[in-house]
Amino acid sequence: MVRAMKPYVICHMCTAIDGRILGGRWPPLPGGKDSSELFESTADSFGIGAWLVGTTTMREFAGRNVRLKKARRRIERTDHVADRRARRFAIGADAKGALRFQDPDVEGDHVVLLVSSRVTDDYLAHLQDAGVSYLFCGARDVDVKVALDKIRRVLGIRRLMLEGGGTFNGAVLHAGLVDEISQVVVPVVDGGRGVTTIFDIPGDPPRKAAAALRLKSYRKLPGGVSWFRYRVARRSAR
Ligand SMILES: NC(=O)c1ccc[n+]([C@@H]2O[C@H](COP(=O)([O-])OP(=O)(O)OC[C@H]3O[C@@H](n4cnc5c(N)ncnc54)[C@H](OP(=O)(O)O)[C@@H]3O)[C@@H](O)[C@H]2O)c1
Repeated sequence: MVRAMKPYVICHMCTAIDGRILGGRWPPLPGGKDSSELFESTADSFGIGAWLVGTTTMREFAGRNVRLKKARRRIERTDHVADRRARRFAIGADAKGALRFQDPDVEGDHVVLLVSSRVTDDYLAHLQDAGVSYLFCGARDVDVKVALDKIRRVLGIRRLMLEGGGTFNGAVLHAGLVDEISQVVVPVVDGGRGVTTIFDIPGDPPRKAAAALRLKSYRKLPGGVSWFRYRVARRSAR
């Protein structure tokens, strides 16, 4: 059997002090920066040209929701790399084939969707026509282990930013695939029970905390913002 491979995964997120991540609920941050600016500037400082997100977050970049045309051909369930020369990647899970990208990139980052075998020919034809790449990562769901193996093996990505939301981060952490966490904490308490947090592991709560961390660095940023970087030291038994 071939050994699974994966990139080095850094989960980068901007949170309130209680770990909640919906920046649209926060008041303006001191200094006038908004949370997306803070997120982007800190993320860019890693210099890593590939990011990965869940379906809900990827929808924010997908454009309008057009109707799919009927495919005139049957499409093989094999991985499709539309741009072999791409060096920067915007990668999103889309197990059900719900996203409707009409452009092959997000601000210059080539779009790659992680799909399951249940998606339709109409959807795959749409992605091919749009110049979007896709990787098959499971029969009905996106198996995150398979996904990371393909991201490394098929796309050649060695370092990857995992950028939300909490549900998808939770699945990747729970599978033991996160190497590092970069958390930018804004001076806000959200407090809303049920509001998405940085790691919301799908399904029943794990028996114990999901991971123990080792602090790697801490920086104080303007406006009372704190930036923590941690190594994932140990994952709990699942
Ligand atoms: N503050 C920050 O730094 C930050 C960063 C990123 C995002 N966000 C915010 O986070 C919010 C979205 O977070 P979210 O947790 O609701 O959604 P998410 O993690 O972006 O997406 C979750 C969805 O991904 C799909 N999915 C596919 N494969 C999966 C897998 N193996 N495991 C888990 N999910 C999988 C599922 O949808 P299906 O069941 O339909 O397939 C699931 O409901 C947005 O409001 C976004 O703006 C904040």
